[in-house]
Amino acid sequence: MNPALLKKEINSVKKGGAKKPMRILVTAGPTREFIDPVRFISNLSSGNMGYALAKTAQKRAHRVILISGPVSLKPPKDIRTICVVTANDMFKAVKRQFKNADCLIMSAAVCDFRPKTAQKHKVKKKGKRKLSLIRNSDILSWAGKNKTERLIVGFCMETEKLIERAKQKLKTKNVDIVVANRIDKYNLAFGSGPAKVSILDKDGKAEKIGPENKEQIAQILLDKIEGMWYRKG
Ligand code: CTP
Repeated sequence: MNPALLKKEINSVKKGGAKKPMRILVTAGPTREFIDPVRFISNLSSGNMGYALAKTAQKRAHRVILISGPVSLKPPKDIRTICVVTANDMFKAVKRQFKNADCLIMSAAVCDFRPKTAQKHKVKKKGKRKLSLIRNSDILSWAGKNKTERLIVGFCMETEKLIERAKQKLKTKNVDIVVANRIDKYNLAFGSGPAKVSILDKDGKAEKIGPENKEQIAQILLDKIEGMWYRKG
C-alpha cells in the first residue's frame, strides 16, 4: 500500500475513524512465584511499559484488555484490567482472552521458574535449605503456536548477545515483533524512566530507539503494529 495512504488510514483509526479498531491484549509487570506464604521469587519489572502500551492503544480507540502482575501503578481508567499474581494465573488469563484478541503484546516479565513446592507455612530459619525450581509454561511460545491471523509481540531482556537472541526469539517463538530491551549498568530498562530498545520484526527490519520515555516507545511500537495489521487488510 502507498505509505501516504497507509498513514492516512492509521490516523483515521487514531481518531476513531473508518478502520475497525483492533482488539489488543497486553500483559504487564512481573509475576510472583511463592516459596511460602510470605516469600516469593520475582523480578525488577515495574509494569510501566505494558501500562503505557495499554493506555496508548486505548487513546487510539482500540479495544484493550490489560493483564497485570503485581505492580504499584494505578489501574488505568476505562481499561479492563485483570490482576494476576503467578505465571500460571497469567497463562490462564491469557488463554481465556486470546481467542478474542487481534494482537497480543507480551510485555510482562513472566518468571521462567517457580519453586517446586510452595510451603503451606512460613519456612523457619533452622536447618539447611535447598530450593528446587521447576519451569513455568512459556506463554509467548504457546501464543506463537496458536497465533493464526493474530499479531504477536514479544519482549526480550538479555545481559549479553541481545540482538542475536532477539532474532532467535522471533523465529523460535513464531512472533511478528520482538522488542529488545538494552540493559545498561543503571538498569534503565526497569522503572518509569527512559529506556533504550531495539524493535525487530519478522521481515528482518530493526529499529534502534532511545533513550526515550516509555510513552513514546509505546507510540512507535503501536505505529508498527497498526501498520502491519492494516496492511494485512
Ligand atoms: N515469556 C512468557 N512466558 C514465560 C517467560 C517469558 O510468555 N514463562 C515471554 C515474556 O513476556 C517476553 C518473552 O517471553 O515477551 C521473552 O522472555 P525472556 O525471559 O527474555 O526469554 P525466554 O523465552 O524466557 O528465554 P531465555 O530462556 O533465553 O531467558
